[in-house]
Amino acid sequence: MILGHAPKSVLAAVSDTLSMGQLFAGQTELEAQLAKKIVDIVPCAELIRFASSGTEAIQAAVRLARAYAERSKIIKFEGHYHGWTDNVFVSVNPPLDQAGDESKPNSVSQTLGQSISAVEDLITLPWNNLDVLTQLVRAKHAEVAGIIMEPMNCNTGAIFPEPGYLEGVRELCTKFGIVLIFDEVITGFRVALDGAQGLFNVTPDLAVFAKALAGGFPLAAVAGRRSIMDLLHTKSVMHGGTYNANVLAAAAGLATIEMLEADDCAAYADMNENGRLLMEGLSRLWSKYNVNFSVQGLGTVFHPLNLPTGKNKVKNYREFLQCDRTSLDGFYRKLQSAGTRVTARGTWFLSTAHKKEDIEETLEQVEWVLRG
Ligand SMILES: Cc1ncc(COP(=O)(O)O)c(C=O)c1O
Repeated sequence: MILGHAPKSVLAAVSDTLSMGQLFAGQTELEAQLAKKIVDIVPCAELIRFASSGTEAIQAAVRLARAYAERSKIIKFEGHYHGWTDNVFVSVNPPLDQAGDESKPNSVSQTLGQSISAVEDLITLPWNNLDVLTQLVRAKHAEVAGIIMEPMNCNTGAIFPEPGYLEGVRELCTKFGIVLIFDEVITGFRVALDGAQGLFNVTPDLAVFAKALAGGFPLAAVAGRRSIMDLLHTKSVMHGGTYNANVLAAAAGLATIEMLEADDCAAYADMNENGRLLMEGLSRLWSKYNVNFSVQGLGTVFHPLNLPTGKNKVKNYREFLQCDRTSLDGFYRKLQSAGTRVTARGTWFLSTAHKKEDIEETLEQVEWVLRG
């Protein structure tokens, strides 16, 4: 919730809209206004479709990639999460004894009840390794419809793409007619108004947004190149959902983006500055109390890590696994009793509601825990 809890302008926009009705079984003007705004902001967005959750919008993107390329395989990366459906819920956090060879990982099922056949069209690879991806694409491009990734891997340790990696993947996709999908469910409208594609200056063919898009209301979007998105009507590629034309969520989305883009995007400067103060404060306290934690990421989203000796960052899931999670979990449990709750996966998110006083209070609680 990028604007924090109960942001006044968003709640007001939603309640004004609610008084006119809750669902109209068709597109609304608000939806069109929001789509126009996203097209103006997001580099890859020429056309938009809305949905109610990131998981659903990912499904539309994957289907569009297959329909466009007329191929079946999708490449995903270890440690990346794209929703909970059978066909993508694979190798998000596989145990090392099942994960296979680092450069040729197994596609590890993540839940009981998952259809094995749904995973047959998925190829799992290590992220941030252009050589391995290039080899695979050269050998199998005739079968590969799409490559999907978190352009910054926020579900595993807030990992940045290595310099040149996104550009390299973009080039491969263009060369071999593969649809590049950025899953910006976390990074969209968070790491910058124009998302990770704006921040890293690499434009995918399709991108998926949710979370920050509507400040906590159930709204997601798939956006992308007209030639691909057009297949939804010219070739009847199916994308449905009773609540896709969610007028309340559209009102929330418009109000959220208006807040985020106000005063030349001052919200991002503030979040980044407060996040930087928090990251620096954490690092200072950890060294004061001789704790081996460090922090990786951006002011708007970051992740503390207990790195193995000799490392100063992690660059993929296997390196993330080498970090000691137990000590951090213990720290978070104590921090929660002091008043600060960290998300289960260990990622810290800033919102525009966090002020300097909140950062100071958090750091006081951290020091209280470290003092023992
Ligand atoms: C990167 C990413 N993609 C997709 C999803 C799924 O989105 P949703 O929970 O809205 O279905 C999530 C959810 O956390 C996510 O982090």
